[in-house]
This record gives sequence, structure tokens and C-alpha cells, in this order.
Amino acid sequence: MKSTFFFGAAITAFAKLTSGAGVTGAAEGFAKGVTGGGSATPVYPTTNAQLVSYLGDSSARVIILTKTFDFTGTEGTTTSTGCAPWGTASACQLAINKDSWCDNYESSAPKVSVSYDNAGVLGITVKSNKSLVGQGSAGIIKGKGLRIVSGASNIIIQNVHITNLNPKYVWGGDAITLDNTDLVWIDHVKTSLIGRQHIVLGNNPSKRVTISNSEIDGSSSWSATCDGHHYWAMYFTGSNDLVTLKGNYIHHTSGRSPKVAGNTLLHAVNNYWYANSGHAFEVDSGAYIVVEGSVFQNVDLMVDTSSVGGKIFTSPSTSANAACSAYLGHTCQVNAFGSTTSYTGSDTSFFSSFSGKNVASASTASSAQSSVLSNAGIGKI
Ligand SMILES: *[C@@H]1O[C@H](CO)[C@@H](O)[C@H](O)[C@H]1NC(C)=O
Repeated sequence: MKSTFFFGAAITAFAKLTSGAGVTGAAEGFAKGVTGGGSATPVYPTTNAQLVSYLGDSSARVIILTKTFDFTGTEGTTTSTGCAPWGTASACQLAINKDSWCDNYESSAPKVSVSYDNAGVLGITVKSNKSLVGQGSAGIIKGKGLRIVSGASNIIIQNVHITNLNPKYVWGGDAITLDNTDLVWIDHVKTSLIGRQHIVLGNNPSKRVTISNSEIDGSSSWSATCDGHHYWAMYFTGSNDLVTLKGNYIHHTSGRSPKVAGNTLLHAVNNYWYANSGHAFEVDSGAYIVVEGSVFQNVDLMVDTSSVGGKIFTSPSTSANAACSAYLGHTCQVNAFGSTTSYTGSDTSFFSSFSGKNVASASTASSAQSSVLSNAGIGKI
């Protein structure tokens, strides 16, 4: 009996490992084909130094996290003069004077003392050909984010929770940074209590990114809108970014969820936006966005209408959505709204940019509503 049981379990586990050891499933959308560390023998770091070394060396690696890696306090703290652009009430974020930001942009804001953890400010460097995978709900990185930059490619981050990067302070740290990258898959990741951006794509190209089944948790006692909702959620602004955003739960934010600029083609499909006290999309010049099959519940504004400089197609009607077929390979799915100010974007002029790319499939908004909450974030695979 016992051997039969183990044989069955082994077959099940093997069948799931389609992107290589440790990884469950495979990327859909622009990052389709990413393999990360491939079939490398998994390594199990036990110390912060080992984790940093495995992520930053030049070997293909499958890195399994079985515990919390706590970086808080490991690089000391800095106490200096910052500013309070949104006021000094206890619910408001304060800002670090990073690169003289307070002096240059908020010179009339009150000066305040700030005291922050140095480890949070700069993330761990992740080199090419890595899979970073958490086991169960155990894979937590506390007090430091991840930086995928300088030409790094073919990287999978799955089932990991990044948390506690100086949430009191703007410029306290970004959870995941991409800048000059290709083929990155962020899946079943949770980010919470972050100082600056939960996910930021810098000015250099981040080619072929898929962010799926992840949870952007903006709940915080310190916010730029002083209301418990984090303003700086996602920022996609590279000169040649391709981003698939599918099946994510984006909640308790108040802006930039995401901000899209630069020259970014964004396919946002089957996501669930919830409890946003400001806006979801900021559509700046250079943004090319298709939003479909998604749910907006208790979102003040689907789109920040104070400045729509880019192009957005919001899948407004079944007849208009047929235009997706020729380039996205399916008729777009309408979105669903509850207690949300929706926005109608019907620009299809950029659809040819999807030609020849891997485009994620879409299901209905109502099926997204039921699946995202039970599936997004860590500990679900
Ligand atoms: C990543 O893996 C591929 C395929 O094995 C290899 O060609 C490439 O050189 C690796 N990249 C780096 C930076 O090691």
C-alpha cells in the first residue's frame, strides 16, 4: 500500500513541474517559455548570505525557500531629515530625502526626522537563469526586495512573500524592481507593507514580463493618501516594456495600480481590483493598455481622468471587443464594476503591437471574481 501511495504522489508532482524543478505550472502571456533555473538541482538556503549568493551568482539555480529570511536590522539604520509632503498626521507616509527628493520636489513640505532600516532601501540582485520558489506558505523575504536589472533574463519568482520595507517611508524600498530585463515571470507572489513601489519597471526595457496570480496588498498604517491605502503599487514605465498582468488581486491601494508610461504594452486580464480609494490606472503618454475580463469593486476611479495621455481599450462592449480577435486571438471580455467609476476607452489603434506575441487567454469577469480570491498570493499552490 505504501509504495503505491508514494508512486502516485511522485507522478502527480512530476506532472506539475512543467517549467523545471520546483516551479508549478508555466507562464502564460508575454513571458511564455521562461524556464528560470530549469532542471538545476534545487538548493535550500538557510542563511541570508546564502540566499544572496545563490541569487547573485552566475549559475542557473532553482532556489527553494523554506523559511523567513529577515534582513531587517542587518545593515543598520539611518536617522536623517526627511519631509512630510502629505502632512504629519500619524496615518500619513513621510519621505526620505533620497537623492535630495524632498529638497527638489517637496521644498515647501515640513521637514521631519526619519529613521529607516538601511536593508530595505536596495533589493537583492537576481541574475539570469534563476527560479526562486517558496515552499507552502513558508517563503518570506522580510526587509529587503529583489532587483532584476542590467540585462538579467529568464527568471521565475513564484510563491514568495516580500514584506516590511520601511512602510512608513516613501523611498524606503521597492519590493520587485525590473530594469533592462527579458523573460521574467512573477507568479503567486505577495507584496505587503512596502515603502515605495510594490512592482516597478524602470526606464530601460523590461521585455516579456508576466505577473500572474499575485497579491498586491496595499493595506498600511502609513500612506501618501493618509487613509490606510498605499499609493505606490505598480509602475511600468520602460522604453520597451511588454507586460501581461493576469489573475492578480490588487487591493487597498489608492493610486498607481498601475501607472503606465514610457512605451509599455500592457495586457491586463482577469484581475480583481478591490478597495482602491483613488485610481487604478494612470494612463500616461506611451501607455498602450488592454483591460479585459477584470473586476473593479469599490474602486474610486478605474482610470485617473486628470491626465489620460496614452491609449487604453477597456473592452467596453461585446461588439467593440470583437476587434481583439485579429491581434489578441480572442474576443475581449467585458469588465465588471461594483461601486466603481468606470471609464470607457475604445482605442484599438495599437492592437497590431500584439501581433506575433504570446498573448494570455481570457475568461469572463465573473469567473475571475470567483477564482482570483482563492488563487492569488502565496500558499495557494
Ligand atoms: C542562461 O542559460 C542559457 C541557456 O542555458 C545560456 O545560454 C545563457 O548563457 C545563460 N545566461 C547567463 C547569463 O548565464
